[in-house]
Amino acid sequence: MADGSLVTSFDPYAVRAQFPILSRQVNGKPLVYLDNAASAQKPRAVIDALVASMEGSYANVHRGLHTLSNEATEAFEKAREIVARFLNAETSEQVVWTKGGTEAINLVANGLGLSIQPGDEIVVTEMEHHSNIVPWHFLRERYGAVLKWAPIKDDGSLDMAAYADLLGPRTRMVAATHMSNVLGTINPVAEISRLAHAAGAQVLIDGCQGAVHATPDVQAIGCDFYVITGHKLFGPTGIGALYGKAEALEALPPYQGGGEMIERVEQDRITYAKPPHRFEAGTPPILEAIGLGTALDWLSQYDRAAVQAHEHALYQHALDRLQGQDWLRILGQAEGKGALLTFAIEGAHAHDVAQIMDRYGVAVRAGTHCAEPLAKRLGVTSSTRASFALYNTMEDTDAFVDALIKARNFFV
Ligand code: ALA
Repeated sequence: MADGSLVTSFDPYAVRAQFPILSRQVNGKPLVYLDNAASAQKPRAVIDALVASMEGSYANVHRGLHTLSNEATEAFEKAREIVARFLNAETSEQVVWTKGGTEAINLVANGLGLSIQPGDEIVVTEMEHHSNIVPWHFLRERYGAVLKWAPIKDDGSLDMAAYADLLGPRTRMVAATHMSNVLGTINPVAEISRLAHAAGAQVLIDGCQGAVHATPDVQAIGCDFYVITGHKLFGPTGIGALYGKAEALEALPPYQGGGEMIERVEQDRITYAKPPHRFEAGTPPILEAIGLGTALDWLSQYDRAAVQAHEHALYQHALDRLQGQDWLRILGQAEGKGALLTFAIEGAHAHDVAQIMDRYGVAVRAGTHCAEPLAKRLGVTSSTRASFALYNTMEDTDAFVDALIKARNFFV
């Protein structure tokens, strides 16, 4: 609840009623929204908070001495505190606003790049999203860093023994996802961090998917950096956050230059603000940050374990109904995985499958899901993904399975 107390019993129908978009129709059918991992829908609380900010107390932050600016600054900084609480960061100064997960990772990679020597190593996993691959490729192209790939096993889990073997004295950074946006695998991120630190490397955990389905406790994980994006967490687009350990942020050079990130600017010298402001050049995404704070407050009213159990029950119900369908190849069945169901159908292109399912009002994602090295490892050119959220119901799951079977019948 807004007062910080937990809703005692989880009711997906009561959750669903708070999302105006979920009552619309698509192609004459009730919308069944299962593209939550691409972007989640927004609850009334977030919509109202954005409108209220614009209508009631909008101005630029940190600059004004007038009432509206002070009110906007207070709301903006309160949202930072909410993110810090959500991630269990020690202080809100460890939370940097970014425009999303991608910018957060680029910020860290860019800073690290300035001290990379040819031959320094970056370890990534085979299940990373492009946003946690391409910024490290930049360090390979520009500074001679070597990318090392921790492999996955056939069930979609990370091969931890092989990962441990990749670590060595030249490892500078381990960049791993908390939860794969394709396989649903939830990685043992605390163990990944422990091993990386033992090798003297830093660790960045991409929590864009993991923060939605698992519990993001940065102190328990022990990582140097943790990244989230707002739009998957029921908040607006254009906002994300980078958590950094105090010493890790302190050691990072600025990413972009402009207003707000400086201490002093003179004609021949410049000094920078302390983190987090050092990394927040220009007018920040004020409304978006307030919207994300509201979304996380909204989400935090629900018992995360109950939400995870609900999402898992939906996923399991889909699996049970699809049991024995030998035309279906499910990608990723690691133990304890989150509620994503990604699949390939022999002889059917994933784009066609998704478009046919849309005719039945079912929204799913198709393609390589911004994870081409993973698609290659899995031996697929594309796949279709249904991703469950707390507002989905058993009826949604049944509609998904029915539409999937109808779609498949187009190809036989
Ligand atoms: N990363 C987003 C997805 O998984 C866009 O679909």
